[in-house]
Amino acid sequence: MTGPGGVVPGGVVVVGAGECGTRAALALREEGYAGPVTLVGGEPGHPYERPPLSKAVLSGAADLTPLCTPERLVDAGVTHLAGVAATALDVRAHEVALADGRVLGYERLLLATGARARPLPGALVLRSHADAVALQARLRPGTRVGVVGGGFIGLEVAATAAGLGCAVTVVEAAPRLMGRAVPERLAARVAARHAEAGVAVRCASPVARLEPGRIVLADGQVVETDVVVAGIGSAPETALAAAAGLAVADGIVVDGSLATSAPDVFAAGDCCSFPHPLYDDRRVRLESWRAAQEQGVHAARALLGDPEPYAAVPWFWSDQYELSLQVAGLPGAATEEVVRVRPDGAELWFGLDAGRLVAVAGIGTGTAVAKDVRIGELLIAQRAAPDPAALADPGVALKPLLRAPSPVG
Ligand code: FAD
Ligand code: NAI
Repeated sequence: MTGPGGVVPGGVVVVGAGECGTRAALALREEGYAGPVTLVGGEPGHPYERPPLSKAVLSGAADLTPLCTPERLVDAGVTHLAGVAATALDVRAHEVALADGRVLGYERLLLATGARARPLPGALVLRSHADAVALQARLRPGTRVGVVGGGFIGLEVAATAAGLGCAVTVVEAAPRLMGRAVPERLAARVAARHAEAGVAVRCASPVARLEPGRIVLADGQVVETDVVVAGIGSAPETALAAAAGLAVADGIVVDGSLATSAPDVFAAGDCCSFPHPLYDDRRVRLESWRAAQEQGVHAARALLGDPEPYAAVPWFWSDQYELSLQVAGLPGAATEEVVRVRPDGAELWFGLDAGRLVAVAGIGTGTAVAKDVRIGELLIAQRAAPDPAALADPGVALKPLLRAPSPVG
């Protein structure tokens, strides 16, 4: 696979300069690695945070939030190749070919290629900063915005667009919102808040087709639109890995220490599926900011020979209007549920399986549920089996349910 410049030798190559890849590149240095580190990013410009894209960037309140200062990458001696995609991987030769013809040799490789938005012809999507800028330019007071998909993208876009004075309709194929990762009770509360903001939410409404200026639903009804945004899920970016013969099944398949099926190649973040030790080694693929960050750091250690399995409790948040939703663990693993309604109106949902706490979710204003969800997360990590009556009772403090003193303040 030798390119015009020959093979650039050695070190660690990270493909994907998103949350995971950038954190991994920096962590390699923090872990004491002194060899060459090359960060290959398909997107132009400096690495940036994605969560603000559907919130402050889309509302026009903020521009791009850099993942770190440009100096930090320079000071860490990370060579960032921006706007150039890796196009082929030769795992035998330990080489990665780039779109500009260069070929990078590697001793160890990290694939942090993330995910891409599932497309819907005729609709805009929101994954990159460029997508956010294009959509922002279309959101004006009175604009009729049709949102296809009532998941995180769809609902965060709906909240932001409603805040800008747009007339928003969300059409969701499933019977309820956020079915992938949020308990029904909390999703219902989010639905009610959208209704209060004047957003029309139509569940159980699969889309038949998009026509210019309208969404045609499967039952024949139409939604008139000026702009349509699709948030119908993301797909792991696995093309490079699959073409190189790596095992792929809803993500690049990795073991507990994030190693792929190819020697010296690791994968982390939205692009990988890994066995989770807290959930009977069930394979999971997380699509969340904190997991991408943590797995980047974990992968850096793994690349340097640490075999410790990745076992962090999954966690994510979503901000819509003044509400913040947080979920720790895997709600889908629960067979029983317990609800706690606090006097301040915040709600917590606990998911248990055979008595063990496997998920906690909370919704409230601002940071209202952050501390309780954090304690829940620690309980999940401890494989605790708390008394359901205690979980349900807002008068019972959660912290004493932990086995040992914790740093939660
Ligand atoms: P990505 O961020 O997708 O980065 C992967 C990078 O790799 C991309 O830049 C891509 O261009 C690049 N790449 C891919 N293939 C190649 C190649 N062949 N060569 C070179 N480069 C390549 N999570 C939360 O928990 N809370 C939130 O509120 C939240 N909000 C979000 C809002 C939006 C609009 C989006 C899109 C996501 C949000 N997320 C949120 C999810 C979170 O941002 C992602 O889980 C996280 O960004 C994943 O990081 P990653 O590095 O694994 O992948
Ligand atoms: P998602 O999986 O959360 O939701 C997709 C929704 O679209 C589902 O409810 C699904 O039933 C629905 N759907 C699928 N096909 C449809 C169709 N044809 N018609 C109508 N509805 C349809 O995925 P989403 O919202 O697109 O998010 C993409 C990525 O962005 C994910 O990785 C997500 O984690 C990330 N993200 C995370 C945020 C957060 O955690 N706060 C915020 C924004 C994005």
